Amino acid sequence: MMGKGLIVNLEDEYFIAAGLFCRCYEHPSEMAECVKVPVEGKKAKKRVDADLNYYHKLHKRNVGLEYIADYLGKCETNLGDGYRYECVRDFDQSISRTLKFYLEESDLEKAKIYDLFTPLGEYLLDNRILISDLHSKNILIQIKEGGVIVPVIVDGIGDRVAITILNVFAKLEKAKIKRRWNRFAHMALEGNAVLSEDR
Ligand SMILES: Nc1ncnc2c1ncn2[C@@H]1O[C@H](COP(=O)(O)OP(=O)(O)OP(=O)(O)O)[C@@H](O)[C@H]1O
Ligand SMILES: [Mg+2]
Repeated sequence: MMGKGLIVNLEDEYFIAAGLFCRCYEHPSEMAECVKVPVEGKKAKKRVDADLNYYHKLHKRNVGLEYIADYLGKCETNLGDGYRYECVRDFDQSISRTLKFYLEESDLEKAKIYDLFTPLGEYLLDNRILISDLHSKNILIQIKEGGVIVPVIVDGIGDRVAITILNVFAKLEKAKIKRRWNRFAHMALEGNAVLSEDR
């Protein structure tokens, strides 16, 4: 394991991808981890805090994270504060590709990909996991040993709208999860995996 107080050196060779709010690197010595470094600024800091809060809630509630890359803790890097997450890798150890990649640039049948999302939507609803920024670069498609394929959410969970009082009311919360999921299903999955009204 990583020694405490050691600075993690994130060289360019470890860079995976960047979003609007952070840059993501492979951990140089821990294959199972990646490190996210937020961009400068208040907004990115707020976003990190909100994300960590939400993970904290999930940990406290003991939710199974089979579809979500877990948060593992902070670390210090040569680029500033870093946040460690489970790194999503395929059976051959390569970093899993995004849903966007599979929808736009791969030969894998789209219907086969869409099929993965009904269980994911149901999982989010059953476990009352809120999503606020689900898009096709926040989900990785993990190809496991034996051809098993799992969609893994790496970003965009939690409530980024600060009306958390709503969460007190389970019914409203479920409706909100459904609404947001269905918006994603229409935008990214051609209306596949939509959750029905009576669930
Ligand atoms: N746990 C992970 N394992 C492997 N790759 C990851 C992981 N988390 C993120 N990535 C890669 O890094 C990219 C950026 O990470 P992330 O989505 O967390 O950044 P962001 O700035 O918060 O994004 P956004 O623009 O959606 O707000 C992802 O699209 C994905 O390609
Ligand atoms: Mg993202």
